[in-house]
Amino acid sequence: MPEDFVVTPWEVKGSIDYDRLITQFGTERITPEILERIRRRTGELHFMLRRGIFYSHRDLNLILDGAEKGHPFALYTGRGPSSGIHIGHMLPWFFTRWLQEKFKATLYFQITDDEKFLFKDFEDLDQATKVGYDNILDIIAMGFDPKLTRILVDTEYIHHLYPIAVEAAKRITFSTTQAVFGFTNSNNIGEIFYTSVQAAPAFLPSVLAKKPVPVLIPCGIDQDPHFRIARDVAPKLGYPKPALVHNKLLMSLQGPGAKMSASIPESSIFTTDTEKAAHKKINNAFTGGRATVEEQRRLGANPTICPVFNFYEFIFDPDDKHLAEVDRTCRSGERLCGECKAELWGLVGPFLKKHHEAREKAKDRVEDFVVRD
Ligand code: TRP
Repeated sequence: MPEDFVVTPWEVKGSIDYDRLITQFGTERITPEILERIRRRTGELHFMLRRGIFYSHRDLNLILDGAEKGHPFALYTGRGPSSGIHIGHMLPWFFTRWLQEKFKATLYFQITDDEKFLFKDFEDLDQATKVGYDNILDIIAMGFDPKLTRILVDTEYIHHLYPIAVEAAKRITFSTTQAVFGFTNSNNIGEIFYTSVQAAPAFLPSVLAKKPVPVLIPCGIDQDPHFRIARDVAPKLGYPKPALVHNKLLMSLQGPGAKMSASIPESSIFTTDTEKAAHKKINNAFTGGRATVEEQRRLGANPTICPVFNFYEFIFDPDDKHLAEVDRTCRSGERLCGECKAELWGLVGPFLKKHHEAREKAKDRVEDFVVRD
């Protein structure tokens, strides 16, 4: 059956059927049993778990088996520095920070400047590295624990990563990368090698500790193909297979199915947007509303296709009761899109202001987080 959506590490388009992705990728759904196990360890469930925003996994049960026996695990996530950071990039980071806090886990945060150069986002490698350092300010501003967080920039940490990457690369054929990523003869050989560089931090904690350390990777479901490969090679190298938790992707402010990207500034809120610019973007956002007020009062609106509702649900409104009220009043027509946007801005505005301040302070803290060869 032809798909009407595409999800790969380099391309996300169309209206994504997340259930179908679980089947396509061969991942597992996060079940109520798993949620209950997490709740027992953490005392509460993050709203992204309660709401199924983090909805899919691989081997999360094994991480929980270990945690229940008191075995530590490491966290690993990353950022391909193609542009400034928008709120959609931060979605998995909020959850990663929560996991770090609850499990006191060390977090390895990979900045793949090499990837964004190889995949042609930049003419010069050092431009990618520069954007990487800009992105690091946002990562630090999110409040990760400096004692438990190691940010690694690929080109500056390659001495640590390279031995692991070549071990992995030797066990990955070109034909596997063709099947998994759709590569062809015209892809450059750096692109073909790259997946082994993204695999490396998944094994780094074991290499550093000189014993197997389980690793959990929170990431957008679009990154799963890399880790399918990493999981295949892990036993051949004597490392535990990395476990994963996958999140659904935040909607573009221009509507479901629209692309969220730095080349379309109106598509999302970027961390360097002024408050004025961000406010305007929200006011101009697509909604699930009706053509006229009269119609909306009579028929109600549709939150399921609405990026404004999506922002409440995925990021800005952790209070389930309030969210249910937004949902109800939207559907009933009691709530109009203008007032709904104004209320959302009441949550986004203060967040952005605080983030701007933390981002400024982060400039003096980079060395507390970045590890180098
Ligand atoms: N490839 C990812 C991107 O383009 C960056 C990345 C590297 C990553 N390692 C990761 C993302 C681990 C999630 C988890 O953004």
